[in-house]
Amino acid sequence: MSSQNRRTFLGNALGAGAFLASTPGSAVLDSRGWMPPPRTSQVPDEAYWERVKLSFPLTSGLVLMNAANLCPSPFVVQDAVFAWTRDVDADPSFQNRGKYAQLKEGSREAVARHIGADPDEIALTRNTSESNNTVVSGVPLQRGDEVVLWDQNHPTNATSWDERAKVDGFTVKRVSTPAAPESPGLLVDAMVGALTSRTKVLAFSHVSNATGVRMPAAELCEVARSRGIMTLLDGAQTCGALHMRVHEIGCDFYTASTHKWLTGPKEGGVLYVRSEMIERLRASDVGVGWAGALEGGARKFENLGQRDDACVAAIQTAVEFHARIGSLVVEQRLLELTGALQQGLRERIPSVEFHTPSTPAMSSGVLVFRVPGTDSGAAYRALYDEYRVAGAGRGGAFSGIRLSPHIYNTLADVERALDAIQAVMT
Ligand SMILES: Cc1ncc(COP(=O)(O)O)c(C=O)c1O
Repeated sequence: MSSQNRRTFLGNALGAGAFLASTPGSAVLDSRGWMPPPRTSQVPDEAYWERVKLSFPLTSGLVLMNAANLCPSPFVVQDAVFAWTRDVDADPSFQNRGKYAQLKEGSREAVARHIGADPDEIALTRNTSESNNTVVSGVPLQRGDEVVLWDQNHPTNATSWDERAKVDGFTVKRVSTPAAPESPGLLVDAMVGALTSRTKVLAFSHVSNATGVRMPAAELCEVARSRGIMTLLDGAQTCGALHMRVHEIGCDFYTASTHKWLTGPKEGGVLYVRSEMIERLRASDVGVGWAGALEGGARKFENLGQRDDACVAAIQTAVEFHARIGSLVVEQRLLELTGALQQGLRERIPSVEFHTPSTPAMSSGVLVFRVPGTDSGAAYRALYDEYRVAGAGRGGAFSGIRLSPHIYNTLADVERALDAIQAVMT
């Protein structure tokens, strides 16, 4: 189906125009319901971001800063999901659903463009958890081998290794890095210092969901590659947040979810497998169409049976929406928002401590802080209940409050969040 036909289909299937005309963002969207792109010669101003915010169905008065966990989809992505869902339910015949194979390829191509991969290197999974577990269970490892992890990895890239190690007898080693590091060299030294001649895999989050620290991924992958070590880069906090090209970074595996920073459909995932690794990585799910899947590059890692076709088809819409703004612009905007939060917190609460570095190259859209002597859990609850500021309360080694703003936030939201935090935590 051509993109023109797809648009016509979407319009017809949902009455999308009528729906959009009734949505709050319609006054600033074009006739297809899309955000106009920023003028490339200029860094967008607040008026532009106010308009971006209106293209999301957010409850009025809510300051949502929880992108590290789950993002809303813009109206255009909702429209696509609704339209395709209605289409499937209106006619679930083989004949009608035949087109979803092509739409899935459109989504695959869009994701590949977004992260700088070849479409054959992309599997469309259900989330980062599934993608991580596919790699963890599928890489060749045996007794005597060693897997090196960052101790800030998500459980799907940490506990999952421990569980497999119980069966296959390899060693799992966790590496700590300095608190709030201000130089990437400190991170490289810590991680590289842990590699040995037995290390077969180096697995780490690109940006930590626990501290917001950004790992120097390209440097680490280069060292690993030079020593024949496979690399798993967990991109749950970077796909849609940073401008990134997997071929340039040089990782073997990259994983992500569409429902986080890409603001795409829920329960959509990405697994990038570098072309040379596709044969070496064993697939965990084998089902209908297996023989064909084996010929399809990374498609063999998405042999999952019946999927939510609407979700998979709408991933393409989410990537297009994001691309209109531009990943470099998004990356800059996130740094602007977290930078303003960090500076504002320092000015208002001198005792504040950050788990996140202040160097832009070492952070992204995730900011984690604590105020000594305060109860972060109680503060997190009060921020939402009393001030409608939605972040995350974190316990454990990096306890505190996590704020993860995104393109639907404005500098006015930052001021509201700062006012609320000052009221609750001082
Ligand atoms: C670094 C990291 N990896 C994996 C995940 C799991 O993501 P999902 O629940 O979408 O599978 C998360 C979720 O926050 C995460 O932060």
